[in-house]
Amino acid sequence: MTCIVFGVSGGIAAYKAVEVVRRLAERGFDVRVVMTEHATRLVGPDTFRAVSGNPVSLRLFDAQGKDMEHISLARMADVVVVAPATANILAKMAHGLADDLLSTTLLATRAPVLVAPAMNREMYRHPATQENLRKLRERGVNVVGPESGPLACGEEGEGRMAEPPVVVEAVLRLLGMRGDLSGHRVLVTAGGTREPLDPVRFIGNRSSGKMGYALAETAKELGAEVILVSGPTQLQPPPGVERVMVETAEEMRREVLSRCGGCTVVAMAAAVADFTPSRRSGEKIKRAGREGLTVELVPTPDILGELRERKSPGQVLVGFAAETGDLLPRARKKMEDKGVDVLVANDVSRPGSGFDSDYNQAVILFRDGREMELDLMPKRELALRIWEAVAGLLGDRAVK
Ligand SMILES: Cc1cc2nc3c(=O)[nH]c(=O)nc-3n(C[C@H](O)[C@H](O)[C@H](O)COP(=O)(O)O)c2cc1C
Repeated sequence: MTCIVFGVSGGIAAYKAVEVVRRLAERGFDVRVVMTEHATRLVGPDTFRAVSGNPVSLRLFDAQGKDMEHISLARMADVVVVAPATANILAKMAHGLADDLLSTTLLATRAPVLVAPAMNREMYRHPATQENLRKLRERGVNVVGPESGPLACGEEGEGRMAEPPVVVEAVLRLLGMRGDLSGHRVLVTAGGTREPLDPVRFIGNRSSGKMGYALAETAKELGAEVILVSGPTQLQPPPGVERVMVETAEEMRREVLSRCGGCTVVAMAAAVADFTPSRRSGEKIKRAGREGLTVELVPTPDILGELRERKSPGQVLVGFAAETGDLLPRARKKMEDKGVDVLVANDVSRPGSGFDSDYNQAVILFRDGREMELDLMPKRELALRIWEAVAGLLGDRAVK
């Protein structure tokens, strides 16, 4: 049985480690948790004992315990994970200090090591921490995260521990195993489209692209090959993702339909215009001499409808519904009309959620009638919840 020695150091994100350990244990790994003294002040060892199904190791010199536990742990590990990794444990690792059970085990092991740093942004930015991380990377230690976002100390910035599915994915990769989306080719659309009236004006919408980019970024982290078809946005393409920029609904349609063939998942997070001007003026429309201006709009192509018609067996279609009020009834109707497998519906009129926000609150609807109402959460976290839902439908459909 593959053994994961799982170190928990004294960061507030220790509560997230519970979820990581739960997921690893669920996959059948033998997870041996080692907690630092400070970690035990944040989460009780009994919680880790319950989720791992194993005793939790705490002290170098254990009164009842086995002799030289640091050596036995170091030897039995196929991989050692430290999550959260405090600035302190990273410093100790970088300098070879061994003054408690976790740091001594880390010095004694020859197994690959993965750390998930988590700390206040100033602690993370400090040259000492940066140098320690650089040293550890040079020595072959694997680092996952940290991410940017709200921190437990009330500040915003880099320092949040990577989300549990991302840590699990990194562990699997280190063990040479496949993650939840590995082997899958995923197409994600993001952002709003622009429908030109003349060479300088367009009809657009308030979509920022953040939800679609979060989906593309997290799908990549979960092991997928990702194509991102994006409307105009200031956002940087996530690392390792193939990005195709488009402007109009028609361009979006063309790029999506020409690329969806080999994809096991198509997630249409873009806010595609429903209407486009029937005529586009070749020259800038002049104000002078006009009493007013009437623009005739015609419907744009129904991309989701076309995707449904071309859907290959096993392909999972994910639709998004941005509504303003009456969320669930409208979402259920859209689910029927569009024939998608998963529909993510959110109320964009809710303050602090939806368009241009870093947060979103959504309901995930499944074709079989299941509905998952989620709390307000960062878009990255919502993206991970969506992939979790999608992975449950994919089963063994990976493109090998
Ligand atoms: C409530 C609380 C939360 C803390 N969170 C973090 C954290 O997220 N990251 C970090 O590096 N240190 C954090 N610290 C400071 C560490 O606990 C402290 O540096 C400690 O010496 C770490 O010891 P350890 O690495 O042996 O667990 C926190 C301290 C307290 C009191």
